[in-house]
Amino acid sequence: MQTAPLPAELLDAILETASRYSTAELAAAAARLSEAYRKGLPPRLNSAVDRAAYLVTRLPATYAALRRAAAELPFQPGSWLDLGAGAGAAAWVAPCPVTLVDQNPGWPDFRPATRVHADLTKLPDLEPHDVVSIAYALNELTPTPRRWLIDEAWRLARRALVLVEPGTPEGFRHVVEARKQLIEAGAEIHAPCPHSAPCPLEGTDWCHFAVRVERTRLHRQLKGGTLGYEDEKFSYVVALRGGARPAEGRVLRHPEVQRNLIRLTVCAPERIEVQTVTRRDPRWRAARKVSWGDRWPVLPPPETSVPDED
Ligand SMILES: C[S@@+](CC[C@H](N)C(=O)[O-])C[C@H]1O[C@@H](n2cnc3c(N)ncnc32)[C@H](O)[C@@H]1O
Repeated sequence: MQTAPLPAELLDAILETASRYSTAELAAAAARLSEAYRKGLPPRLNSAVDRAAYLVTRLPATYAALRRAAAELPFQPGSWLDLGAGAGAAAWVAPCPVTLVDQNPGWPDFRPATRVHADLTKLPDLEPHDVVSIAYALNELTPTPRRWLIDEAWRLARRALVLVEPGTPEGFRHVVEARKQLIEAGAEIHAPCPHSAPCPLEGTDWCHFAVRVERTRLHRQLKGGTLGYEDEKFSYVVALRGGARPAEGRVLRHPEVQRNLIRLTVCAPERIEVQTVTRRDPRWRAARKVSWGDRWPVLPPPETSVPDED
């Protein structure tokens, strides 16, 4: 898996903010954060040191996941609204002016953006924007406000709505429920799904992807890990007002690579299917390059149409 680079300026800003605290203070705050996540509770980010720990241990990953989801947008947006923006990961992802909405006034602005301090459960009057995004914030709301926020976000999305949640069963449930709500509201699903029909994984499995993120030395110190990277698991959906070009198929797992054979689990328009690509297959070279989460053609060539199960 390729490592998603963090913009150097963002990394510098994170480390500069963190340098105001001792490693012990940051480690204690990171432990409080982890404990909240383990219990499925929203992290309390009311103190400056808690927010600094979030910047070090979570922002690189949430930035990378949003960037990955937004890379599916089939157009160049001219305006972007991010709801539940936190430290403003969206400002580093958007190629255009950004409005960041969050109730917490303590987040630093590392990049120029318009800040609106507001409650997501009763938003003030906001202008429609080409893209609206909500990343890692739906899970902090209870069901009724969450449904209301999705309707509002869709109303404010001139062209696209991007939702990103943790790649856990619960995060996926929020995404798949929002997906249904958006389809009922007339949205076209552009990614990751190859269709706007009911999700075949709902109730049986959870659809999620991963992006590899570099860990700084400070991050490793705070989390007690030794690896120089982590794999951030996320679920997402990109819904469009029109012009969706969904993938023919989407790779749902790490490809299983053997010497003469690659097995791909693919979400296809009709079902989840396991495709076997052999060396003789004209798709062999493409299959060697494809990764979990990528788009993939669905139609298997005649000689490999029946998956080989051994
Ligand atoms: C886990 S952080 C995610 C931040 C950012 N989107 C990211 O991906 O890094 C969740 C953010 O949602 C905000 N939030 C949660 N509930 C909110 C509400 N009711 N109104 C406004 N902001 C809210 C929190 O203040 C926090 O900044």
